[in-house]
Amino acid sequence: MRKQLTVGSLIPGRSDVQMSSPAPVPVHPQTSVKKTDRSPVRPQSEQKLVQVKQRSQTMPVRYTPSQTLLQAALTQAQPIAYKCQQGHCGKCSVQIVAGASLLDTPTGQEKAKLGEKLATGYRLACQSTFRSSIPT
Ligand code: FES
Repeated sequence: MRKQLTVGSLIPGRSDVQMSSPAPVPVHPQTSVKKTDRSPVRPQSEQKLVQVKQRSQTMPVRYTPSQTLLQAALTQAQPIAYKCQQGHCGKCSVQIVAGASLLDTPTGQEKAKLGEKLATGYRLACQSTFRSSIPT
């Protein structure tokens, strides 16, 4: 004899009818992960960075072809100090800790303003520009 199910018989504990849970749906590994971001994400170690130090604070600035170090740093929300943006005040002076090869050679204004400090890795962020391209 087949037992008839009612609404009340579906409430747990009110019926001796065994409720079976739905069978597990097999998951195929190839279809279960949906890729939505197709842009290549480079690991941090592969990104080209210049590390600059200003007033005992070190900041990473990502390589941005043909931009000044100051423009790139500000775009990347780095708290770099500056004032005139014309190579006169020296407020944007930074010491390059790493990645100096990503920058063009110092400008005449940098040479005039920084003098011997250039030899110890100092640059004017508003005057130093990233190379337009770098060898791979
Ligand atoms: S901001 Fe004045 S020299 Fe760079």
